[in-house]
Amino acid sequence: MTAYSALNAAQLARLEELAGAENFSAAHAERELRSRDAGHHPPQLAECVIWGRDAAQISRVLAYANAQRIPVTAWGVGTGLEGNAIPTRGGILLTMERMTRIVEVHADDFQVTVEAGVPHKDLNAALARYGLFFPPDPGANATIGGMLANNAAGIRTVKYGASKDNVLAAQVVLADGRILQLGSRSVKQSSGYNLLQLFVGSEGTLGIITQATLKLVPVPQHMSAMIASFADVTQAIEAVVAVRGAGLDVAALEFLDVTNTLALNQAGTDIPPYPTLLMEIHAAHAATLDEDIATVRALCAACGALHFRATADAAERKTLWQARHHAYETLVRNHPNERIFIMDVAVPISAFPQLIAHARATIDAAGIRGYMKGHAGDGNIHIELPYATPEGLEVVKGVNGAIVREAIRLGGTATGEHGVGIGKRAYMAQEHGEALVVMRQIKQTLDPNGILNPDKVL
Ligand code: LAC
Ligand code: ZN
Repeated sequence: MTAYSALNAAQLARLEELAGAENFSAAHAERELRSRDAGHHPPQLAECVIWGRDAAQISRVLAYANAQRIPVTAWGVGTGLEGNAIPTRGGILLTMERMTRIVEVHADDFQVTVEAGVPHKDLNAALARYGLFFPPDPGANATIGGMLANNAAGIRTVKYGASKDNVLAAQVVLADGRILQLGSRSVKQSSGYNLLQLFVGSEGTLGIITQATLKLVPVPQHMSAMIASFADVTQAIEAVVAVRGAGLDVAALEFLDVTNTLALNQAGTDIPPYPTLLMEIHAAHAATLDEDIATVRALCAACGALHFRATADAAERKTLWQARHHAYETLVRNHPNERIFIMDVAVPISAFPQLIAHARATIDAAGIRGYMKGHAGDGNIHIELPYATPEGLEVVKGVNGAIVREAIRLGGTATGEHGVGIGKRAYMAQEHGEALVVMRQIKQTLDPNGILNPDKVL
């Protein structure tokens, strides 16, 4: 492990000069503000905050940091959940908050080029007048750079894919200051190694994404949200597999347990308190939409659904998805004297029922509470595990570990979308075997001094 020493006055002064005085701060409040993410990992202060402005400025800062062996942790808006952007070794916190420019909208190509600090909801608000949107949606208003660095996904991934599926090109600054342009604006690309995708999901450990060209899709003409309630979790999960198995192109297929339905209802929905599926269908024609809804209704009924409701009302749909997006925050607020450990694993859809059954048994055997919700259509589940004490956290970690290992054993992954960060490093060897050795070699090649987001992923 590389040894890092505290920044001295001369280094801080040089960094201020390289970044520009208006883009530099060593103030405690600024460092404190960017010391923790939205998850349970302990906070850590950087030694200074630098606001990235463009690739040239970031290149200057990185070249110096590399020569001086100063850790650099990139930061979007801190919505990560696995400590992905916590500056565990101090050094520079490089925030992209001021790089929010929409560089160019290529409306005829369904593309947009943006700076890395644009939050995706802000981007979609700006794109509304073109009738286009960037579909990956992790719920929180994460930045595009953070979403790409983490390969974020969310409720629409079942139809539109994750961040990795919706990016065509990126500008990346390497640890030594070199600036790369990766990919192209062609939707088909067969030219050389896919370095673009190497940086997607690398969590700032290989380079800093400063700009990206994203794929957009037309805002669908017809949309309907559906709520189906089931007597038990098994039936609901069977319905997930049935809907996917019918080849229906659902735009969301979310599972909620009873606790999570109550959390959503606090945010304005009226969901019956049962294991629930929330679904959405997007269609170009009203008739196709109606047919799809009828098929989903029939499949849910065959799996024993107690209630089924479809709504095309825009306000109702909006309330529903906003409530879903805030479900985690609502649960956190509902446990003022506890912390919430949120886990994230994903398996092939056929193994989803087995994963859920294993998770439930593991949680019950440990005698703790575990609330489930997830992007069930992708075989992706989040389990919220409340704890109040250090001993409680150890029990929760044990449960988490058992479920993660089971997900990998079932042909899945330790993380569907929250990334490795700090929390999932322990499972990388089981999941990747010899490939983990190659990942380390790639890291060594691109960041030989280990300055980029130390302690993460590997
Ligand atoms: C969600 C986040 C936590 O699905 O991934 O709500
Ligand atoms: Zn999620």
